[in-house]
Amino acid sequence: MMQLEWESLKERLQSFCQDQLLAHLQSLSDPDRIRLQEEISAIDFDELRRTIEGQGQSVDWHALASRAMPPDAIRLNESASVQRAAYDAGEKAIRDGKVAMILVAGGQGTRLGFDKPKGMFRIGPVSHRSLFAMHADSLRGAMKKFGVSIPLLIMTSPATDAETREYFESHHWLGLSKDHVTIFQQGTMPAVDRETGAVLLESPGRIAMSPDGHGGIVKALRTHGILDACRAEGIEYFFYAQVDNPLVTACDPTLLGHHILAGSQMTTQVVQKRFATEKVGNVVSIDGKTQIIEYSDLPSELAEQTNEDGSLRLWAGNIAVHVMDRTFLERCSQDPDSLPIHLANKAVPYLDPSGQIVRPTSPNAIKLERFVFDLLPRASRAIVVEGDAKDVFAPVKNADGAPTDTPASAKQAISDRAKRWLAEAGVECTPECLVEIHPMWAWDADDVKSKIQSQGTIHSDTYFA
Ligand code: UD1
Repeated sequence: MMQLEWESLKERLQSFCQDQLLAHLQSLSDPDRIRLQEEISAIDFDELRRTIEGQGQSVDWHALASRAMPPDAIRLNESASVQRAAYDAGEKAIRDGKVAMILVAGGQGTRLGFDKPKGMFRIGPVSHRSLFAMHADSLRGAMKKFGVSIPLLIMTSPATDAETREYFESHHWLGLSKDHVTIFQQGTMPAVDRETGAVLLESPGRIAMSPDGHGGIVKALRTHGILDACRAEGIEYFFYAQVDNPLVTACDPTLLGHHILAGSQMTTQVVQKRFATEKVGNVVSIDGKTQIIEYSDLPSELAEQTNEDGSLRLWAGNIAVHVMDRTFLERCSQDPDSLPIHLANKAVPYLDPSGQIVRPTSPNAIKLERFVFDLLPRASRAIVVEGDAKDVFAPVKNADGAPTDTPASAKQAISDRAKRWLAEAGVECTPECLVEIHPMWAWDADDVKSKIQSQGTIHSDTYFA
């Protein structure tokens, strides 16, 4: 870069009070300078300023939440014939090759205290399979059951990408065909000092960037050419799930079918919240639009409101399992930056002006993220479908010892579901033993019934594979 160009870059940065980014320019090699210049050029400082300044006038969640109504949802007690019709419609779409699965796996598992991609965390109660393997096996089970191959799209972040790729390669694509797995990286956004709004450096020539949130998927699917490729392959629906939930049934036909039959553009699976302040997003209807209010934004007096029978008024917890139309995502991807930006206070290591790395123990910075569920109000139709938490939701969020959402609770939930399926087939299990079923052995309760030859009782840990 010519001296003149640096001068004009410096002037531009000065006009946004961001020229600290050039503080260590003299110490950089030519390639590092060029990379820093590219990183700087990718930032829209105008938008950044507006976002940070806007935080003072953040959403009045109390006012918004006080207009929130429980969502209009397809509940668990829906008639068997309606559920069967949904299953059939979902099954047809899968068999017709119209469905792809998306797994978001860009998060870093900080709360879990695991320093690799969370998908590599071993969660099988008997098999010790990883979260990635649980999802891949569930997808393989669906492919076997419906006689079709289903593409798997895995979104990673700079923190998880290389290890995720290496993991899939060294584990033979977890039994999937390499051609049907696409690993792609989400974008990043700069972290800024929470007091001054200054963009932080992580090293003399590198900006402290963090993943742009799972909402970054809208942009990433377009920039990596995945939406185009899916259109060419005839994919109409995306089944979206988070890597941290091992109870997800890949491409659940009933959920897909409800989406299709209702003409929904974006569908959300919810569960009945276990308690008012459970750490799940609250799926609500505000002014006729389905929306999600994060647990951290819902005032507790509203969260605790109950109906006459004592049940929670705002009962629907987001488990982040969605079905989205490809055409809907294509439309949204025309303008992915219009999804709102959420600000999170985090402790982010940074380089101070003297060139020392500072590692704060309390939040010093703001990270910027977009959320996929902010697409919901944009859908012309967005439906909500209830699942039974014990069958569909066992998130792995916290390290063992925490009160909820730990590896231990997820393992128990995996085993308990397997035991229920076995009980339906006439096989009892003692409470102490752990049981696991590989999806290629049996994908659902009906498969278990057709596999079990003789009834009896299981006394020790058992893996049906
Ligand atoms: C999330 C939802 C919450 C829901 C809960 C269910 C948000 C803001 N909230 O909460 O409504 O009830 O899951 O378990 O999402 N991820 C990326 N890239 C990113 C950030 C996250 O791929 O930049 C992925 C993670 O790998 C993970 C998922 O998104 O699979 C959820 O992220 P996390 O930060 O753990 O969300 P929660 O706060 O647990």
